Amino acid sequence: MFKQFPPIAALLGTALCCAVAGCSSPQTHEAPEAAVAPPAAQPAPLLAHEAEVGKLLKQLTLEEKIHMIHANSAFAAGGVPRLGIPELLMSDGPHGVRPEQGRDWKPVDLPANAGTYLPTNNTLASTWNRKLGYAYGTVLGQEANFRGKDVILGPGINIVRAPLNGRNFEYLSEDPYLVSQLVVGYIRGVQDQGVSACVKHFAVNNQETQRSKIDVNVSERALREIYLPGFKAAVQQGGVYSLMGAYNKFRGQYATENAYLMNTILKEEWGFKGLVMSDWGSSHNTMDALRNGTDLEMGTDLVLKNNSLDQSATASTAPAAPAPTKNIYDRFYLADAALEAVQKDPKLVPLLDDKVRRILRLMYATHMLGDAKRQPGSHNTKAHQATALKVAEEGIVLLKNDGILPLKKSVKRIAVIGANATRENAGGGGSAQLKAKYEITPLQGLKNELGGAATITYAPGYKIARGQKADPALIAEAVAAAKAADVVIYVGGSFHGYDYTKWTDNAYDAEDTDKPDLNLPFGQDELVRAVQAANPNTVVVLLGGGPMDVSAWVGQTRALVEAWYPGMEGGNALAHILFGDVNPSGKLPFTFPVKLQDSPAMKLGEYPSTPGNPLKQTYKDDIWVGYRYFDTYNVAPQFAFGHGLSYTTFKYDKLTVTPGPQRATVLLTVTNGGKMAGAEVVQLYVHDEQAAVKRPEKELKGFEKVFLRPGETKTLTLTLDREAFQYYDEVKKGWVLEPGKFDVLLGSSSRDIRLKGSVTL
Ligand code: BGC
Repeated sequence: MFKQFPPIAALLGTALCCAVAGCSSPQTHEAPEAAVAPPAAQPAPLLAHEAEVGKLLKQLTLEEKIHMIHANSAFAAGGVPRLGIPELLMSDGPHGVRPEQGRDWKPVDLPANAGTYLPTNNTLASTWNRKLGYAYGTVLGQEANFRGKDVILGPGINIVRAPLNGRNFEYLSEDPYLVSQLVVGYIRGVQDQGVSACVKHFAVNNQETQRSKIDVNVSERALREIYLPGFKAAVQQGGVYSLMGAYNKFRGQYATENAYLMNTILKEEWGFKGLVMSDWGSSHNTMDALRNGTDLEMGTDLVLKNNSLDQSATASTAPAAPAPTKNIYDRFYLADAALEAVQKDPKLVPLLDDKVRRILRLMYATHMLGDAKRQPGSHNTKAHQATALKVAEEGIVLLKNDGILPLKKSVKRIAVIGANATRENAGGGGSAQLKAKYEITPLQGLKNELGGAATITYAPGYKIARGQKADPALIAEAVAAAKAADVVIYVGGSFHGYDYTKWTDNAYDAEDTDKPDLNLPFGQDELVRAVQAANPNTVVVLLGGGPMDVSAWVGQTRALVEAWYPGMEGGNALAHILFGDVNPSGKLPFTFPVKLQDSPAMKLGEYPSTPGNPLKQTYKDDIWVGYRYFDTYNVAPQFAFGHGLSYTTFKYDKLTVTPGPQRATVLLTVTNGGKMAGAEVVQLYVHDEQAAVKRPEKELKGFEKVFLRPGETKTLTLTLDREAFQYYDEVKKGWVLEPGKFDVLLGSSSRDIRLKGSVTL
């Protein structure tokens, strides 16, 4: 049982509230304060219409109730016209509204398909800006409304555990605190538009390899400390209306119909009152789905056509699914088989009612039912494009710079090298695919930036296509272009590949498959080295959904920029950073290892599976995920968690840490010591000096992004509540805060600690 921890708690309170004196930044979007201030209780909208929900429920027949709890086509479910209950319409998610897939997965070409393509979620995470989370969600909510969607299938918040996970680009961070802080704004941004967010994939869905079959075992401590806090924040602080189960198993039972995850933790402990839907095809058993918290079964009819309906699993616990009748969706686990089960055993009716109640709650909260009108939404507005630009500008991370950046606008000859410079990324990756209204590539962004003021020569250097290796002719062309230029901007890295509908082999940054390795594909190491040798004034820009192995040439590069997948305005944002119109302020949301083998999932864990058993895996890396491992086990990263450079310098000073009856208060000053205005992400880590269990060297427990003009000083106030100090005790089955001394570390990354204080509890 989850247990509230003991006496020392009196010293510190519950609500975390980071206030920053005078920190409102001209670089950040204004957003309602509600975007960052967590409410104390379950947000009202979900429970605001209990009487009406109860009334409707009474009028529904058993058949109608069953009709509401499973898909009726690709992205729609339910609908009872007799009672004015509409169908629930969904769309991916998570960084834009997906083009119309059609009821039967035959994509429909609509002009409105072309929408705003926001930077991917790890770009958002790299901003470390809570208000941008809200702005991002607002765009999604407005565009979902415009397209008539009730639920947007995002945010994706699984912990970035293994660097090879093909979907890391859809996720936020390796750190549960950073995830929790960003997810709240995203959800409120969406839901303030009257659209439901759907946080996914619950839980421990941290790889794509064997994602539908892998049985993940993880210690209770790692589950509580690392893998669940983001979901808990989504429910309790974000007030999310819906949540999606994961494909994988957890401790032997499929996650989507997992009694412990869905009933014990999500619905009982956390008090979630909204809707749990399956991932597409992640339900496997009628009785488990009925009993263990799946409220809505979604899926693809292809799953059924491919005969992956596991009749044996159903037969053991419930009446066998009836032969196909009018419609393939009747064969879903929560369709005819569920009806038969409930008809045979009326004791199951309350379970069914609970599911329908949750669906109806979401419908009232999103104004699908009730008197309030749905907002018409908006599409491709200038404001949406400005948000896409802002997130990219704040999310691009400057990893290395010897002073070559920012580039001077007086530069006359620029060589842009790398096939990624002209590649559009919106359409790739899997279910996150989008059709962008437009997409500014890096090359286009540089042209926009410079107009005709400089000559830009472009050489692709490699081909993005399956099986391509280094091509001497393309390298020779790139070297010639580099030699003839004053400055080289190399734009390479990863890509969404290949054709995800084939889902056949290892690719990069794509759903249903993990990456084969961290190497730059298509012989890029050779190309970068050749270009660097031809012209040392080379700036390297990488695109992609996570770290790449740059060890072959990073020592020789003058500057390195991580641009992720920066969305429809990405090329402009990149040019603004490279030429200093915008001072970079992005920080890494996960550690970049020197070598893949250095990462804890590889070193301590069993990724991608238990040796000898491809369908099982125990997270032996336990709580030692990301920097918790690198910093505790003294393994040097290539670039540390939280790292990101600026064109100015920041001085940290005057730290005081004051314990209080509710929370400890941390005060410090930060001064911009350089010549350029810019923003710094001040990170607060806590280190437990002595504990009954082994604890990480440091854990992120606060941060604030502060904008400063040259010479300006601001005082920041951050607070630490009890959650900042406690750990999960497996013996006591609860959170424990041990009295004693805790170091309070303030820094610019997990490896760049500038001030150290302490507090004794
Ligand atoms: C993905 C989900 C997505 C769903 C619908 C699944 O394959 O895992 O994230 O929302 O498809 O497209």
